[in-house]
Amino acid sequence: MSLLRVDDLRVRFTTRRGPVQAVDGVGFTLERGEILGLVGESGSGKSQILFALMGLLPENATLDGTIEFTGSGPTMVFQDPMTALNPYLTIGLQIAEALPKGLDPATRRARIVELLTRLRIADPGARIDQYPHQLSGGMRQRIVIAMALAAAPDLILADEPTTALDVTVQADILDLFRAERRDHGRALLLVSHDLGVVAGLCDRVLVMYAGRIVEEAAVDDLFARPGHPYTRALLATVSSLAAGDSELATIPGAPPDLGLPIAGCAFAPRCAVRIERCIEARPAFRALGPGHRAACHLTKTPGTES
Ligand SMILES: Nc1ncnc2c1ncn2[C@@H]1O[C@H](COP(=O)(O)OP(=O)(O)O)[C@@H](O)[C@H]1O
Ligand code: SF4
Ligand SMILES: [Mg+2]
Repeated sequence: MSLLRVDDLRVRFTTRRGPVQAVDGVGFTLERGEILGLVGESGSGKSQILFALMGLLPENATLDGTIEFTGSGPTMVFQDPMTALNPYLTIGLQIAEALPKGLDPATRRARIVELLTRLRIADPGARIDQYPHQLSGGMRQRIVIAMALAAAPDLILADEPTTALDVTVQADILDLFRAERRDHGRALLLVSHDLGVVAGLCDRVLVMYAGRIVEEAAVDDLFARPGHPYTRALLATVSSLAAGDSELATIPGAPPDLGLPIAGCAFAPRCAVRIERCIEARPAFRALGPGHRAACHLTKTPGTES
């Protein structure tokens, strides 16, 4: 049995302008100890999927679909450590709140020191009594991760956990997730716009566009044989950076307004290879290989004619 099974997940917001379909029929599975990446442009619904899994959707959201989770947790590493931390409580107290209840004070303190040490925070015995503003940004993010690990979850949800951190701290944090998987079998669902991070950490990737998954693949297959025109466009933005362009290239055009119904392929207005059918008919998933599928009318399943 998979650790997590999500089927036909839908998140719809009620707004003054009308309904906004932020997540539009998303399905995937996640195995124990697996690191799954969730990528796509801003506004594609990545964070709402994590909020739905945590039961933390805002009040104006309606959730549909199935979520089956068979482990402990999940816990979440939020995007912005400053909003996740209480400025008036020491970091020790905040981590303590996430620990299992009923530990005696000495054990609790020992656990916190152990967590901080694991996160490579120097002098944990002193840090434990400090407040968030006394720590650097990188250290605060590690505290937020310590809070997520304190409950010993089988699954960690991380929303852009290394954005705004310098490269060394970023590398440390990625190492930490690897160690949590290796030593404790924890699974990770990682939202990141950084395809370099995804390539270096994830086993498998889901590419999202306008609230839908458009491609799913093992990480090596995704980078070697992207099947969806949107994935190819996304990868091209990264290769332009690698080739020495000073600014990250962007994909021309903008994602669709999620407040309007989308009839065919959501990427059609921006797609260089679209055909007439793309405007009318929503593309179904087609297999490109084992564990590799893409939702595009032009995707050819190997060994078939159409
Ligand atoms: N509270 C809200 N009310 C209405 N729409 C929202 C709300 N929160 C998010 N959305 C919409 O949901 C869509 C998906 O958002 P989100 O999951 O945050 O995207 P991502 O994390 O991929 O950048 C966006 O288009 C956003 O405008
Ligand atoms: S379905 Fe059509 S518009 Fe959509 S990505 Fe494929 S070719 Fe482009
Ligand atoms: Mg987000």
